[in-house]
Amino acid sequence: MRHGTRQNISDCYPKRSKLYNFCLYCICTYLTLINMTYWSECLWNIMRLTLDEALAVGSQLEIAAINGTDIIPLSPTLAAQCGYSMDSDPWGNTKVFVSLLGCYVDNQADETFNLGLRFQMYGDGLSKKVQRDVTETCSYSRWASREILCDRNYMEVSTLMVTPEVPVTMDGQKAVAPNSIWKMTFHTPDSKVMVLKDAHRAGYGAMTTPTRLVLRSPYNMPETYAEEVAGVPMEVFSVSTYYKQVRRLAIIVAAAACPTGGLVFTDEVITWYVPRRIPPLISSAFKILETHMGIDGQRLDKTMMAIRRYKLSITESHVVIELPVGSPDGYYKSHAPDYSYHITYTVEPMLELLWRAEDTQADTRYKVLFPITTPLMPRPPHVTENRVPEQKVFNVLLGTFLHDVSLLNITFTTGVLTVTECNARGFDFQEHRFANSSKTFSLQVPFSDEVVLKHNPNPLTTVYFLPLVFGLLILPEQIPFPHPAELEASLEDVVLPTTTGFCDQDNFYISVKYGSQGDNFQIMMLHAGSWRELDTELYSLTDNNTHVSIVVPYTAPDTVFESDSIRARVDLLLLETPNMWQLNDLSLACNFPLTMTECYPNGTVTALAVKVESVRNLNPKYLTLSDQSCKPVFSNDRFAFFSFNLNSCGTTRTFFDNVMVYENEIAMHHSMGKHQSRKGLINPDYRHTVSCYYLVNDTETMAFRTRPRNSDPKADPGVGQLVVQMRLAQEVSYDIFYQTEDYPVVKYLQQPLYFEVELMRSTDPRIALVLENCWATLHEDRTTLPSWDLIVDRCENLDDRYIVFYPVVADARVHIPAHVKRFSVKMFTFTTDETVLKEQIFVHCDADLCDTTKPDGICSGQCASPLRNAKPLKPTGSRGMFISFPPHISMNFVLLSSVTTAV
Ligand SMILES: *[C@@H]1O[C@H](CO)[C@@H](O)[C@H](O)[C@H]1NC(C)=O
Ligand SMILES: *[C@@H]1O[C@H](CO)[C@@H](O)[C@H](O)[C@H]1NC(C)=O
Ligand SMILES: *[C@@H]1O[C@H](CO)[C@@H](O)[C@H](O)[C@H]1NC(C)=O
Ligand SMILES: *[C@@H]1O[C@H](CO)[C@@H](O)[C@H](O)[C@H]1NC(C)=O
Ligand SMILES: *[C@@H]1O[C@H](CO)[C@@H](O)[C@H](O)[C@H]1NC(C)=O
Ligand SMILES: *[C@@H]1O[C@H](CO)[C@@H](O)[C@H](O)[C@H]1NC(C)=O
Repeated sequence: MRHGTRQNISDCYPKRSKLYNFCLYCICTYLTLINMTYWSECLWNIMRLTLDEALAVGSQLEIAAINGTDIIPLSPTLAAQCGYSMDSDPWGNTKVFVSLLGCYVDNQADETFNLGLRFQMYGDGLSKKVQRDVTETCSYSRWASREILCDRNYMEVSTLMVTPEVPVTMDGQKAVAPNSIWKMTFHTPDSKVMVLKDAHRAGYGAMTTPTRLVLRSPYNMPETYAEEVAGVPMEVFSVSTYYKQVRRLAIIVAAAACPTGGLVFTDEVITWYVPRRIPPLISSAFKILETHMGIDGQRLDKTMMAIRRYKLSITESHVVIELPVGSPDGYYKSHAPDYSYHITYTVEPMLELLWRAEDTQADTRYKVLFPITTPLMPRPPHVTENRVPEQKVFNVLLGTFLHDVSLLNITFTTGVLTVTECNARGFDFQEHRFANSSKTFSLQVPFSDEVVLKHNPNPLTTVYFLPLVFGLLILPEQIPFPHPAELEASLEDVVLPTTTGFCDQDNFYISVKYGSQGDNFQIMMLHAGSWRELDTELYSLTDNNTHVSIVVPYTAPDTVFESDSIRARVDLLLLETPNMWQLNDLSLACNFPLTMTECYPNGTVTALAVKVESVRNLNPKYLTLSDQSCKPVFSNDRFAFFSFNLNSCGTTRTFFDNVMVYENEIAMHHSMGKHQSRKGLINPDYRHTVSCYYLVNDTETMAFRTRPRNSDPKADPGVGQLVVQMRLAQEVSYDIFYQTEDYPVVKYLQQPLYFEVELMRSTDPRIALVLENCWATLHEDRTTLPSWDLIVDRCENLDDRYIVFYPVVADARVHIPAHVKRFSVKMFTFTTDETVLKEQIFVHCDADLCDTTKPDGICSGQCASPLRNAKPLKPTGSRGMFISFPPHISMNFVLLSSVTTAV
């Protein structure tokens, strides 16, 4: 059994006030009078006076008894001695109990009782004392032969004085006069004797009324003692009183025993045990006649007890009262011992018993007023978070608190804000009250406010953290207590920066759009296989606080060539600092119009080799052509640039149907470093074939293109032109030629026309130019009739006696004689039906290019085979004919032999 203790007057609170120390029989609150409303009630053998919320913080209340014209201030000692008690709750609701047998009560024959009380309030906020006098008359005549009253500060017993015959004195007065008590023997249980005066001085109350002896003692007096009865601690006051009666001395033994404990608490129920049989009071068999339960000194009927769920029961050993914690007859109070929130519940039940002793048939009325306060019950406040993450707001509920708690301020990491300041900042602080007057507080703090701390545990997640301390206050005592709370929310709300890009003919254009974290990223670029920070010196970079734009030329150091043609790539990485999280990346590859190989008509070939990504150890510096002495004319760690002539550096030549191909190969040769023994071996990882194609058609255009080793469909062919021209010389010396503006050239019949056909600008001595067929027409179209053959199957038309071939020798102008053919014809005209057609004539030739290293074919020479069978119109002599130039040349390509490629 856990026992509570009886609440003494000295326990009333608050205890902090200095006022308390000199507080007389005052209510131990330092409150101020607002409006004194009060009422009094007679409750059997006591009178109760109630003052509602009479006081406010800062003042005190004194009570004095009025005895006729005398005003007697009631100190706590005097109150206990005289049968007065007082109690108030923290809000100033005050109750005063006065025993009808108390001092200063005008007792009319133990039936009518007149009481007078004076209240005086003064202190803070009151400019002067406020004073009220209260008088009340109570009637009570159903006295039991013994009445025991246990109030909060005293024990009282009164017994009927047995005066069988009251002799009448000479003057007709009754012999027994009040205050005829002589001496008292206190049993503790040792005996101690005091005369009445000493007993009064020691703080005991003792007097007689017309019919009764009244004895009163405060608790814990030297002459009282504690005793445990049936497990319940009791305080016992037991006295033998000697008083004078007529002619003899009478003695009355009286005792009071009041419980000081016997409480068992749970969170829901208070159980109050009172021993059923209290030894000092009951010596023989007895019978309980009445039991009553009450609150604040007032009996409750059965209906009210049922409503309140109070229970009164009698067991073998105890009378048991059960009260649910929180019933409206009591009150809750907040406390904050060690700054942690607790509550107590206080209620003041009353137990009243009437029993009859079977031997004497004497009745005893036993009445206990028993204020109970539960032990401190911890009520740690809960912080509840109602969070809708999308709203990005901490929605906090703090509670539950009693009505006497208010929230003053909230301490954030940035400082303290009052409730008003919180609302001004948009935190929407609210107080919510329940029907039972408990309350909770709510607060909404947006994630975006600076009081919310943020960090990212990973690239996509933001953790929002709100540490705060609620500053709470218990009223009216103004006891502060803080309550810390930490709120945390984690949201995948990070928007990563994004990268996009495109290319034009020259550059990569890269744009990085900021994510939700602003510019917390570093731009890294892949350079030679490892990431390095973007070189802001190297590239044009603009940052407008939402986007970063970068321009990277495709030949920049940070690009890589995916293949050795024209596809380049740049790799970008966004790194978060300082965690080095990879936020995003971009790999942008584009085709650029990079000319890898160019074939010039004069036989010069330029070729560019790039370091391709797939060949790790490729160093362009060490690339050579097939002839390893042919090194790049320019090189660095990414490029090698070759320029060479088609008849050098090991260039091979191949003929196909309509195509003549020169080929060479760029490869890396191990001419460096440790592997001396493997010097000259070709690195199998990298070979790049450089090809020049000659496509020959009737517009004498030669097309060149490169054929990469890995046939890349996107390869952009290098295009060049090879020119074959036919000119007319003025003399057989072939020194001076007619110029474009001289045409049409006018010639007389039989005047010689000196033709020269030349493969222009080629420097390849292995090619020979051979005239296959030449003929004249009247019209520009080479296929029109009439036509006259001049050269047929590489030989002069035997029907035309005037056609002559001239040998060509090298001179200042002609470097390779095989590239040039000369012949002359005599000017002629066409005739039709004997009519001379004096029109322009057009001369056409078909030329062949042939391989002089295979002399068995056409290249064996002009007119090597004497076969001919042309049947042209026979030209007849005529003067003043025109020849129109430039001559049209048709060129056919003849496959002379199949050539193996050098791959
Ligand atoms: C109260 O007043 C009455 C008469 O007015 C007087 O006889 C009595 O002694 C007084 N009692 C006290 C305790 O002063
Ligand atoms: C008051 O009511 C609320 C809500 O029903 C409850 O949480 C709280 O505990 C009650 N307070 C008391 C003191 O009973
Ligand atoms: C905040 O409120 C507490 C009450 O819990 C109080 O003690 C403290 O002084 C207040 N702080 C400020 C800065 O007002
Ligand atoms: C920043 O640049 C981007 C493109 O580079 C553009 O779309 C955006 O509108 C610009 N923002 C501002 C604020 O100028
Ligand atoms: C061939 O022509 C190119 C382009 O016109 C020129 O750069 C180069 O020097 C010429 N080579 C020779 C050997 O003339
Ligand atoms: C000759 O080549 C040119 C240029 O490549 C082309 O446009 C033309 O059609 C070709 N002619 C013949 C007859 O193949």
